[in-house]
Formats: sequence, structure tokens, C-alpha cells
Amino acid sequence: MKNDPNFAAAVRTGYDRWAAVYDHDDNPLQALEEPALRVRLGDVRGQAVLDLWCGTGRHALWLAAQGAQVTALDFSPGMLEQARAKPGAAAVNFLCHDLRLALPLADASFDQVVSGLVLEHLEDLPPCSARWSACYVRRDAYS
Ligand SMILES: C[S@@+](CC[C@H](N)C(=O)[O-])C[C@H]1O[C@@H](n2cnc3c(N)ncnc32)[C@H](O)[C@@H]1O
Repeated sequence: MKNDPNFAAAVRTGYDRWAAVYDHDDNPLQALEEPALRVRLGDVRGQAVLDLWCGTGRHALWLAAQGAQVTALDFSPGMLEQARAKPGAAAVNFLCHDLRLALPLADASFDQVVSGLVLEHLEDLPPCSARWSACYVRRDAYS
């Protein structure tokens, strides 16, 4: 179902419509997730960090403000438009990309990969997670 192109198009349309209010609808999951994720990421200064399913840039912009070099991908033009309009957005490399497809990025080029609130969009987590971490996170980042 989730790999059906019609389903994906409907999801993208939904996020395009949600984008204008996404940051203002008091989603309690964001408040629960953010502090834990930030502790887990540690000091990101100087790191190359990839934000997959970046949405309106919640994590990407915070990471850039901490001194990370951030690349952030999402397939919703509406969500990306909101992200790109925010202060600090010029420091982030936002790319419009459908993450069901191969990533348009060089192998082993990131220290950390972040993705927030996206499990509902994955058909099968272990193969996705393994593929991204093997191909895009530097080997020395696993210490
Ligand atoms: C719940 S939002 C999370 C946004 C952001 N990570 C956050 O934590 O605020 C899920 C995001 O996944 C994106 N998304 C869903 N399916 C996608 C796909 N196949 N490729 C790229 N982005 C996708 C949506 O456009 C949306 O921005």
C-alpha cells in the first residue's frame, strides 16, 4: 500500500496542505521527541548531518544553528517552502526528493542521520535503516 504511487502522491498532497499549519498545531509528539533526540545527537559542531523526511526543517534548522553542515530531504514542496522561509534556512541544503528512491548523495558522507516522526511512512524499517546507515554514514561515526 505505502509503495503504491497513488498512495505516495496522496501523502505528498496531504503534507502540502498541512504545511502552512504544521508548526502551529501543538503536536505533543514534537515536545516529547525533541529533547531526547538532541541529547542523543550530542555535540554536532562541524559534523555533516543528514535529515531525512525533514518536513518544515524542525531538526535541520536546529542542527545548522548548532554548527552542523546539514543536508535535508523531503518530497513535499509545501513543507520545504515553509522550511526555506525560516531564519537560518540559507545554511541548510534542502532538497526535494522522494525517499522511496535512491538517495542523490555520495556514499559515506555524513556523520549522523536524523529522521523525526517518520515511522508511519515506512513499510519495513530494518532494511531502510540498514541501507541508509551503511551507505551514508561514515564508518568512523559508529564509535
Ligand atoms: C510527520 S512529518 C515529519 C517532519 C519532520 N521530520 C519533523 O519531525 O517535524 C513527515 C514528513 O515526511 C515526508 N514524507 C513522507 N513520505 C515521504 C517520501 N516518500 N519521501 C520524502 N518525504 C516523505 C512528508 O512530506 C513530511 O514532511
